[in-house]
Amino acid sequence: MNCTATCSFGLESVLSAELKKMEFENIAAENGRVNFSSDLEGIAKANINLRTAERIYIELAVFNAVTFDQLFDNTERIPFHKYIDRYGAIVVNVSSVSSVLKSIPNCQSIVKKAIIKSLGKYYKIDTFPETGARYPVNVFIMKDNVRIYLDTSGSSLYKRGYRKRGGEAPLKETLASAIVQLSYWNKNRILIDPFCGTGTILIEAAMILKNIAPGLYRDFVSERWPVFSNNEWSKVRQFYKSVIKEDNKVRLYGSDIDSSVIAAARHNARKAKVSDVINFSVRDFKDITVP
Ligand SMILES: C[S@@+](CC[C@H](N)C(=O)[O-])C[C@H]1O[C@@H](n2cnc3c(N)ncnc32)[C@H](O)[C@@H]1O
Repeated sequence: MNCTATCSFGLESVLSAELKKMEFENIAAENGRVNFSSDLEGIAKANINLRTAERIYIELAVFNAVTFDQLFDNTERIPFHKYIDRYGAIVVNVSSVSSVLKSIPNCQSIVKKAIIKSLGKYYKIDTFPETGARYPVNVFIMKDNVRIYLDTSGSSLYKRGYRKRGGEAPLKETLASAIVQLSYWNKNRILIDPFCGTGTILIEAAMILKNIAPGLYRDFVSERWPVFSNNEWSKVRQFYKSVIKEDNKVRLYGSDIDSSVIAAARHNARKAKVSDVINFSVRDFKDITVP
């Protein structure tokens, strides 16, 4: 399958390096996304183990459209039944930039109708209960070029599950991980974050140190899709659990002047199962000494 991992602008090279390390093929970076080829097991791997990707999509079609008929006809041709079962609940999200087709509600309803028609022909039914697994279909229209994707992640991958949202200007986990990966730090060096807030940078570094896949303890929308019929998700989770490195030598240090954020940082580190490698303390930056 042709797949796409989206990321923050500027992080394409970090994400490409991650995909390369995981031995994916046909890796090609564009603005804010990196394309690659994958099988179903690879999709589970990408969701669970990529540190800088925002979402993993399966590319269903790319075509040009300037009329609603063109949008409908090209969408209807997509073999949606390869992924979407007869009980699937289909959610269509559209974004349009610099294109003739700019009415989001109209595009949404046309794409949804085309999907239902395509699935209806295959399953030989007219009405769909939509009581089953959720299938988010994303339509990106840019300069009249339409890309239709199936979102396999669901909630964005920066939501690892270890952090309550909020706090003062917390970094996204994906961005914190990219900063760590682009820095001079490696597993044998000390890392100090003297303005650590809720600890995101240090927790992401600790997860790299202990080889903890960032998505190991969260779920993904495509886990419930019947197409994953060979236990791909549990096999991949099992694998990433088996490669976690036991390491409890503290070499990550975080401090902040605000005791309430340090309490949150400690809580987050415990949830991410990395509290044994990070030392948090309440301290003003001006009082920090480094031997
Ligand atoms: C933008 S936040 C850091 C967010 C953090 N990267 C995260 O992901 O949660 C900046 C932090 O600097 C702290 N801070 C401000 N002045 C400080 C000082 N003089 N010494 C130590 N920390 C300070 C604030 O309490 C705040 O938590």
